[in-house]
Amino acid sequence: MSCQANRPGAGNAITFPVLQTFVNRFPVLLPLVLLAYSTARAQTPPQEPPLPLHSFRPGEVWPDDHGTAINAHGGGILVYKGVYYWFGEHKIEGPRGNRAMVGVHAYSSTDLYNWKDEGIALPVSEDWTSEIGRGCIMERPKVIYNARTGKFVKWFHLELRGQGYHAARAGVAVADRPAGPYQYAGSFRLNPGVWPVDPGDPPSLAAGKPQAAQGDSNARLIADMPAGQMSRDMTLFVDDDGTAYQIAASEDNLALHITRLTPDYLKADTRYVRVFPGGYNEAPTLFKRAGRYYMITSGCTGWGPNAARSAMADSIWGPWTALGNPCAGTPEQVSKTFGGQATYVLPVPGKPDAFIFMADIWRPRNPIDGRYVWLPIEWHEGRPILRWRDEWDLGAFGGH
Ligand code: GAL
Repeated sequence: MSCQANRPGAGNAITFPVLQTFVNRFPVLLPLVLLAYSTARAQTPPQEPPLPLHSFRPGEVWPDDHGTAINAHGGGILVYKGVYYWFGEHKIEGPRGNRAMVGVHAYSSTDLYNWKDEGIALPVSEDWTSEIGRGCIMERPKVIYNARTGKFVKWFHLELRGQGYHAARAGVAVADRPAGPYQYAGSFRLNPGVWPVDPGDPPSLAAGKPQAAQGDSNARLIADMPAGQMSRDMTLFVDDDGTAYQIAASEDNLALHITRLTPDYLKADTRYVRVFPGGYNEAPTLFKRAGRYYMITSGCTGWGPNAARSAMADSIWGPWTALGNPCAGTPEQVSKTFGGQATYVLPVPGKPDAFIFMADIWRPRNPIDGRYVWLPIEWHEGRPILRWRDEWDLGAFGGH
């Protein structure tokens, strides 16, 4: 289904060939035809905005305030002054729609169900030499607000045009207003020349014993030391004390790196930890509940869905304990994360134990038709649990 499919009034266009034939045959009736046409036009009701939505319907087309399908894939949510801002990859039709042909799209909402189109918050550049020139890859954008500087800071996964996924860089853009426009501030690999911290031991590679047979995570870490560590699938997390972190699939996706950001949130702050080296985690999300840190991630199977994973830690620096697959349901749902891949976990403000798991159902052959799966996180013996729901609302967290 195309992005325009839900636009109201799409069938209203008058068919000119029919009108022309009629007028050619009966020219004297032209004034009458015009009168009838203008009366009919005047009686056509104005285009109605879509009805307000009162629930989430995972996997279904989700219309914005114009009735157009929301186009914000691999996204995340900023909450600022009581308004939610959803940023995501704007995809277009056809296989080349997986590359950035338009930019990062922004939407705003006050209730999480109904989203106003705020336009393209960070457009691709028309300058062929720009790092974010049309045709590059801009994925998984996330925005956080820096109370010290008053700036909105967006990080995203950037791949340079024509280089596949080899550049593996973090891109940064900055705005004065939440919905943008964002000014591109540059891109980089993370932590060149810096060794990761190793909780409990002096900094060493001891914690990096590969957990999987495939790939040598330590070798990749060492090889990337001079130029900086890779940064692919990523998210951002701001802790209670205002310290921000970037969490990214690094070492050719063999390990996750959690990197502290500088106080202005614009750069890496040379302190980072490796999580599950050799574990092949992608699509990281990180959130905090009752003083503990949690992650929900995916395995590495490209656009195809796989089984989600979850983990927990008392300190963001680890050690991280694997908690297993958070999905409950049929074997197909559990092994494929309901057809989706994680992108963000939103703590719902004002509801202490309310977390929304956000995932993408990718449609790589027609990316604009990708869908969103939002589900409430349930808890069982300290573990996050995800269960499919055809439809749900925030009442699922208790109260309204
Ligand atoms: C996925 C990743 C997506 C995108 C895709 C490309 O594993 O999560 O963000 O990079 O691979 O194949």
